[in-house]
Amino acid sequence: MAIFNYVIKIIISVCSIIGYKGESLAAPLLVTCLKKMEYRGYDSVGIGTINDGKVSVRKGVGRVEDVDSNLLLRVLPGRIGIGHTRWATHGKVTEKNAHPHTSCNGEIAVVHNGIIQNYSELKSKLMRKGHIFRSETDSEVIAHLLEEDYVSSGDLRGAVLNTAKKLTGAFSFIAAFSDGTIAGARFDEPLIVGISNDGYYISSDVIGFLNYTDRAIFLDNRDIVILKGSEMEMISFDGAPVMRPVTQVAWEFGGIDKGTYAHYTIKEINEQVETIFKSGKGQEDKIEQVSELLKSAPFVYFTGSGTSYHCALVAKALLSKYGRRKSDAIMSSEFQYLVNDIEPDPVIVAISQSGETADVLEVVKKAKPLGSKIISIVNVPTSSLARLSDISISMNCGPEIGVAATKSFTSQLTILYAIIDRLSGGVIGLENQRTKLQNAVKELVEGQKLIEQIANEIKNAKDIYVLGRSIHYPIALEGALKIKELSYVHAEGIPAGELKHGPLALIDKNSCVLVLNPNDSTFDDVKANAHEIKARGASLIGIGSSPSDVYDRFIAIPEVDEVLLPILEVIPFQVIAYYLALEKNANPDYPRNLAKSVTVK
Ligand code: G6P
Repeated sequence: MAIFNYVIKIIISVCSIIGYKGESLAAPLLVTCLKKMEYRGYDSVGIGTINDGKVSVRKGVGRVEDVDSNLLLRVLPGRIGIGHTRWATHGKVTEKNAHPHTSCNGEIAVVHNGIIQNYSELKSKLMRKGHIFRSETDSEVIAHLLEEDYVSSGDLRGAVLNTAKKLTGAFSFIAAFSDGTIAGARFDEPLIVGISNDGYYISSDVIGFLNYTDRAIFLDNRDIVILKGSEMEMISFDGAPVMRPVTQVAWEFGGIDKGTYAHYTIKEINEQVETIFKSGKGQEDKIEQVSELLKSAPFVYFTGSGTSYHCALVAKALLSKYGRRKSDAIMSSEFQYLVNDIEPDPVIVAISQSGETADVLEVVKKAKPLGSKIISIVNVPTSSLARLSDISISMNCGPEIGVAATKSFTSQLTILYAIIDRLSGGVIGLENQRTKLQNAVKELVEGQKLIEQIANEIKNAKDIYVLGRSIHYPIALEGALKIKELSYVHAEGIPAGELKHGPLALIDKNSCVLVLNPNDSTFDDVKANAHEIKARGASLIGIGSSPSDVYDRFIAIPEVDEVLLPILEVIPFQVIAYYLALEKNANPDYPRNLAKSVTVK
């Protein structure tokens, strides 16, 4: 059992679920909604509808568009239905494991997002009672649990309540019953009700239904919603009625077309010309409040996962240098184990594009009851993290669909610059330099041709090393992360000063090394490192403002105040990673094995 628990905990869960009940035909709507949500998970897809008291299910392996054209998902009849895009967790990528899963009598269909930790025990019990399982998934137990309860009691509401209470782990599910009822339940995974003029949606992501309505109810943990007849009932897992406010969701969240770009990733890289300029604007009050809080806090922790963690590292360096405040940056997957031992009454700044990353939420949920103040920087203002925070600042950079974070990184970074600038009495001078910064970003994104060439030249490299010192080291980490995520080439960010303490042993004429060599206090030391690498025959690409013979290729970063350089330096890495992905025939928007929001530990 212990081994089993370990296995399921490291699996990521990134499916999308959607339900509809209303006056329109459900299947075509659900197909459109699923396409919008596909960025979260995308190896198989399925739809179940209810018509004339009959449940029909079609599902298959592949992208929504392909499965729809092969199986004609959209022709399923009925005005009630549920849908799912899957990114395999329990069980291989097969048609059988795709959702919806149905009960033995075929009268209940279920879609699920998350992990059911106790599914193995539940499955054994249900099998002993004669239930026949057709998939390897954890999710299928929900359909059988509902059936077991409903058939014996005839009480649909009670069956949903009892089923939700029996599950452990993190989950949201939607069940469609042959009598036309749809029910959704949420525990530690998001679930949102959309209210449109012609019906109701239940979805794991507002983006799913935003084409049809901007009126949403964000369910809380342990909430259940039941759509029966034309009524909507909301109750908690203990059966008591709950009231949740209707929120108007910003329409800009719906703008997720690629436009004329080949991929979302390159669109989002280019959008940074605007997003960096706008970051934090209109939220000056909150920036002021946060800077005051950080000023008076006994200790500040910055935390996040992946790219957001790299932003945390830059923030820590800035706060120490310009704000003269003590802080630490700890990745959320590690921080959650340290929460009980941290400094008293700290401020925790949690950074997350999605606001749904399980590791980040875990830190916040553990730290909050111990008296920590929670500040968050998120791109989804309605996310779980934003809602758990004392103050939440929105990145406002529009939906980021490419799985690898690009524009969200520079937006979160710029907001942290704004906060630390404020706290330090304006020594960074961000506002005076916004236009300059914007022009510099423009210059960088317009210089993609050279970077495309460089990507072509290094496409056969087996290993890529990215070097930086001081505040540029987190950018080296982020640059390497982008390369490995998008192009599947092994890449490592290394503090340049550590080269001689080990990594130099790896360098030979087959190595490719990218060196962040800006004109600041690190310049001479980094250049000396570049010479050491050159002497071992590696190919060298410099990134900075003073070209040198030591580099085979040089990517010029436009002149801005040195403090702002990290915001610009990351952009060439995003572009290199994008073109390297194209060289490798990989889809840069959807890297294999990765997901945009990792909502389970
Ligand atoms: C996933 C994504 C990364 C992202 C990380 C944190 O691993 O693939 O690109 O940086 O999650 O996401 P967050 O939404 O919390 O910033």
